[in-house]
Amino acid sequence: MTITYFGQNSLLLTIGDTKVLIDPFISGNPLAKDVIAIDTIQADYILLTHAHQDHILDAEAIAENNDAVIVSNYEIAMHYQAKGITVHPMNHGGSWQFDFGKVQYVNAVHTSSFPDGSYGGQPGGFVISTTGDKHVYIAGDTALTMDMKLIPLKVTLDIAILPIGDNFTMGVDDAIIASDFVACNQVLGVHYDTFGYIEIDHEDAKKKFEAKGKVLTLLDIGQSMDL
Ligand code: NI
Ligand code: MN
Repeated sequence: MTITYFGQNSLLLTIGDTKVLIDPFISGNPLAKDVIAIDTIQADYILLTHAHQDHILDAEAIAENNDAVIVSNYEIAMHYQAKGITVHPMNHGGSWQFDFGKVQYVNAVHTSSFPDGSYGGQPGGFVISTTGDKHVYIAGDTALTMDMKLIPLKVTLDIAILPIGDNFTMGVDDAIIASDFVACNQVLGVHYDTFGYIEIDHEDAKKKFEAKGKVLTLLDIGQSMDL
């Protein structure tokens, strides 16, 4: 599989022939809007961790362009279903076998209102076990939480995609502990640099992970990694 970074928590997973887009926030991201054109993005599924603007902004447009299925918590799924988009609602702890792999919607400690203040359910993350037998944890926006320890009881992760920007989510130091909790030393950092509150020192962050025997990967916007 290939993981392409579009900034903030926005990622495109290419799993075989299937394209799974996560949390598209591109047209409003000052770091991404001139690099990625949303009308060129292909997606079969759009997974949304929670309802905040910096995770859902381009979901509707990309879903409509591609006839993509939006997968999220029940409240977010109903929000998009009312707009005529095909959805797959989930809730915490539940798993579903999609054609690209098995997805479990897992706990996150955060909030989840829509930009207009309406209720966006409870925030979550995703554990994806792909048809190619890769195991990926997308934490979404979250604090460090003991619930992360449940994940390695069930899957051996190949990569943990963790927020590292601090202020609204975990920062680097808590993300290092999170990588212990999920038993995965390969971390892709997300949710940093987009706004002043979450700017980080890349080299310092990488050194902190390295000192614990871990690898922190930070992709440029538009850059991909193979797994
Ligand atoms: Ni958020
Ligand atoms: Mn966010």
